[in-house]
Amino acid sequence: MRRKVTVVGAGNVGATVAHRLADKQLADIVLIDILEGVPQGKGLDLLQAGPIEGYDVHIQGTNDYRDTANSDLVVMTAGFPRKPGMSRHDLLKANYEVVKTTIEKVVTHSPECILIIVTNPLDAMAQTALRVSAFSRNRVIGMAGVLDTARYRTFIAEALKVSVQNVQGFVLGGHGDTMVPVPRYTTVAGIPVTELLPPQTLEAIIRRTAGGGAEIVNYLKTGSAFYAPSAAVVEMIDAIFHDRRKILPCAVYLEGEYGIDGLFVGVPVKLGARGIEEIIEIKLSPEERAALHKSAEAVKELVQIIGV
Ligand code: NAI
Ligand code: 2OP
Repeated sequence: MRRKVTVVGAGNVGATVAHRLADKQLADIVLIDILEGVPQGKGLDLLQAGPIEGYDVHIQGTNDYRDTANSDLVVMTAGFPRKPGMSRHDLLKANYEVVKTTIEKVVTHSPECILIIVTNPLDAMAQTALRVSAFSRNRVIGMAGVLDTARYRTFIAEALKVSVQNVQGFVLGGHGDTMVPVPRYTTVAGIPVTELLPPQTLEAIIRRTAGGGAEIVNYLKTGSAFYAPSAAVVEMIDAIFHDRRKILPCAVYLEGEYGIDGLFVGVPVKLGARGIEEIIEIKLSPEERAALHKSAEAVKELVQIIGV
């Protein structure tokens, strides 16, 4: 039987997730947004690409949550972008309201779904979704680490002039300036990256990775990245639907792992049919652990403001 995925928010990330899901024929798709006509128009346009692209999944755009009923997985991309004059805290509160109200509706109609949260500020919005849904933590997953790691891998591959496929590694922590790429666990065709790149090059790559989202916003001016973010979401869905048990860095609610309790933070997890199958605890040096805890503190400040 076909899977069903609802994508909440038919903006840049949401519509591109729908496109990639259709291309890979991973599920029937419902695209829902608060704007009337936009999800319907984008859904129909995507459906009509099927005969050319060769996919036959069903795609529907709607404003009615009844159409999302019994989704296997829901991707949350709804939210406001940061507007001029809006502080980070204003944005936090505005998107908290969006995520809270939409997740309430989503879980009423799809009580068994897995939630993938994308809306920023990512870790705080994932924590909001966990609280509102009251789902077990294996079913509420934040997407950021796969994207941040993809940026990190891209910059390393560029510096070494090798295929991105040779570069393996991960980025820990919250999705923000304090994220923690870990060179000690980064390899290029099995060779530790620390043997291949001098420390100052690696430091520059780490800084560029942490500012990866802002670099794109600075180019686009009116929006943020969506091609790599949507690819990251679809890699996670593919791992879940195919029960691949793939280890990917995701934001997950920690309950004592890494010495962090009661907070969403990005760490490597095993993704499979039940969502998060396992949280992988790797050994960190005192410096790496301190950086992870500093990043967790930044997330804590946000969740305390919204009280989740
Ligand atoms: P966008 O502005 O293109 O799309 C957002 C959509 O949400 C709009 O169509 C809007 O009408 C809709 N929306 C707003 N309130 C809604 C509601 N109550 N119910 C349903 N839909 C509603 O933004 P974009 O580029 O798609 O980004 C979406 C979110 O994802 C943003 O918060 C962005 O910061 C975040 N993001 C997170 C990333 C991550 O790594 N976690 C990466 C990229 C984006
Ligand atoms: C990004 O990292 C804006 O969070 C978004 O591109």
